[in-house]
Amino acid sequence: MIETNCSLKPFNSFAIEAKTEQLFYLKTRKQFPELLNHIKIAEQNKRPILILGAGSNILFCENFAGLIIKVELSGIEIIESKNNYQLHIGAGENWHQLVANCIEKGIDGLENLALIPGVVGAAPVQNIGAYGSEFKDFCESVEYIDLESGELHRLTTEQCLFGYRDSIFKTVVLGNCLITQVTLNLTKQWHPKSRYGALNDLKDKTAKQIYQSVCQIRSEKLPDPDKLGNAGSFFKNPVVNQEVANALLARYPTMPNYPQNDGRIKLAAGWLIEQANLKGRQIGGAVVHQQQALVIVNQGDATASDIVQLAALVRDTVKQKFNIELEHEVRFIGAQGETNLSEVLKRV
Ligand code: EPU
Repeated sequence: MIETNCSLKPFNSFAIEAKTEQLFYLKTRKQFPELLNHIKIAEQNKRPILILGAGSNILFCENFAGLIIKVELSGIEIIESKNNYQLHIGAGENWHQLVANCIEKGIDGLENLALIPGVVGAAPVQNIGAYGSEFKDFCESVEYIDLESGELHRLTTEQCLFGYRDSIFKTVVLGNCLITQVTLNLTKQWHPKSRYGALNDLKDKTAKQIYQSVCQIRSEKLPDPDKLGNAGSFFKNPVVNQEVANALLARYPTMPNYPQNDGRIKLAAGWLIEQANLKGRQIGGAVVHQQQALVIVNQGDATASDIVQLAALVRDTVKQKFNIELEHEVRFIGAQGETNLSEVLKRV
């Protein structure tokens, strides 16, 4: 079934009012032929197509002039073998619920990734990560349907080209694929990942303890999107070369910095934003969050334009003070599909 002229407010965690011309709920695999047919018609009518999960990492900058496919494919199958658990999970399952269920069942590994909003099918797209773990550490394969041919494909972890908040699904196959199922492999030789600050101090390093601690840290720092609209970290942490990092460290010796495997240094965008005095800065209903400056929140009545203007102010102020270019992690969706901050600013 397809709905027309629908509000997208319930379908984006910023809770921004925007509309879409068409909305199709994909609940079962039996709907694949119907889905492909709607896509064909949209393409014939030169309408853009957007695949939506829980809408927890997007900003609808304006009304969407095409077809949105809301992925609600469900189902979790767990196959236990001597050394590991293999999990086949429908793309529409809730990520945190999956993590919570695994911990409850004594299937360890995903605890550091607790409370990340969104659905399972979105996890590989930006290779979600937190507190020393990333989605790619547990991924065995990702299944997707090619929206042109209708064929199902399965990519191994290597083929997914995972990077920091990045994957093949944001680049090579973007726009042409819909993730249907994710397969995870969780080893029974579990080791805690607890190098991150507060986790390091835990006495009892069981998966359940780490899970509870991560839930606590996140609830203290990150606003609950059900209460205060937001999309998590708005910007990526910038990764710079050694020279740039050293020059900044000479001026700001306490600046957090994380050396990467490739010799470059990751900086904390939240720290840069806080040092630029932007915590609590407000434009209309959009505010730089007090507890975590990397998050922009909708105080209740923000428009997309408020958020865009505030994001531009943050980017420009940080650039001025530190000569560091912040790149947004939140994906911007315009009337015709994915866009970005600079493009949107040209239009207002
Ligand atoms: N910091 C500040 N002020 C702030 C925020 C942070 O000084 O307002 C400092 C902190 O004190 C710390 C450093 O910056 O020294 C890093 O902060 P934090 O540990 O809170 O993590 P982050 O780098 O801001 C990243 C991820 C989060 C993830 C956390 C924990 C990105 C873009 N964000 O944030 O992911 O939960 O690490 O691992 O990589 C998300 O992607 O939506 C997200 C929430």
